[in-house]
Amino acid sequence: MKVLILGAAGQVGSEIIAALEDAAVKDAPPDKAGALALDHGLQVFGATRQSLDVTDVVSLNAAVRDLSPDWIINATAYTAVDRAESEPDLARLINAATPGALAEICQLVSARLLHISTDYVFSGDGNQPFTEAHDTEPLGVYGSSKLAGETAIRSALHEHIILRTAWVFGPQGNNFVKTMLKLAESRDEVSVVDDQVGAPTSARSIADAIATIVIDMACADGADDRWGTYHYSGYPYTSWAGFADEIFSAARDLGIISSPPSVRPIGTSEYPTPAVRPGNSRLDCTKINDIFGIKPDDWLTSLRPVLFALQSAERG
Ligand SMILES: NC(=O)c1ccc[n+]([C@@H]2O[C@H](COP(=O)([O-])OP(=O)(O)OC[C@H]3O[C@@H](n4cnc5c(N)ncnc54)[C@H](OP(=O)(O)O)[C@@H]3O)[C@@H](O)[C@H]2O)c1
Repeated sequence: MKVLILGAAGQVGSEIIAALEDAAVKDAPPDKAGALALDHGLQVFGATRQSLDVTDVVSLNAAVRDLSPDWIINATAYTAVDRAESEPDLARLINAATPGALAEICQLVSARLLHISTDYVFSGDGNQPFTEAHDTEPLGVYGSSKLAGETAIRSALHEHIILRTAWVFGPQGNNFVKTMLKLAESRDEVSVVDDQVGAPTSARSIADAIATIVIDMACADGADDRWGTYHYSGYPYTSWAGFADEIFSAARDLGIISSPPSVRPIGTSEYPTPAVRPGNSRLDCTKINDIFGIKPDDWLTSLRPVLFALQSAERG
């Protein structure tokens, strides 16, 4: 089975190869695991922006036809939420038009597509977790571009999985954990928004969820009726201020910072940004558990290995 990962250098994309290799052995039924991993050969190919610009549809088409993958995992995205407000065309090209073109290519070459999306497709109203059946109502360019990408995929390709996640952190790329550690170097107090609630989600846990779905579906005999949209995030829910508290406390316990700054909880109105953020980013992850047995990740546990990895990278 050939799997092509687009965006293989990103926060999530960079975790997928190892996750797939682990899942092929661990999650596949015992009689199929060996076959997938060894006999049939699980072959994983990663493409980064340097090797393949996905907005170049001619090159994308050629690369896919050349490789003829069974699955494509699209971990590329335009993720600069604030900058998207002033670069709407670029955000829509990467997040909407390109996933649509990719889905059309998949349809032509009989590849299956797993695409990652976001809680930003929702309004952020209320305090209940959003299920897959909730109405979408994005607040800004990033969310509306991601929603348009979902819609384009659904209309072009039946054999797709759209995995919506939120508040991603990991050793690669830019994220809230890295921002807080950087601020801890120079501040005694950090003001952090306390009225936006969601669930931090480790990039590795998303990669593990993706790997479980791909291996599980690859092992299914005959027609599969599990295509569609799923939510996956960490647990428990918290605010950004709550997340910052945990980052500082874990970093102190691990000896990464000696005197952590105190966290001053503030309201969203005190931290204006070009893009409006959802107040409620809670995703209901019941469906993915019911269908694939994938449980929300305990982000408090996942945080420590990420802090270790960041510390090791810093020490070189
Ligand atoms: N980060 C979050 O908190 C969050 C929350 C919810 C959902 N998501 C979704 O999760 C998915 C993965 O996000 P992430 O956090 O892993 O993002 P990321 O770290 O920004 O990774 C995205 C990757 O896509 C690449 N890329 C962008 N444009 C490209 C192009 N034209 N051709 C080829 N590659 C291109 C980027 O390369 P460059 O680095 O060179 O630009 C980067 O490696 C995305 O679909 C995102 O919408 C993320």
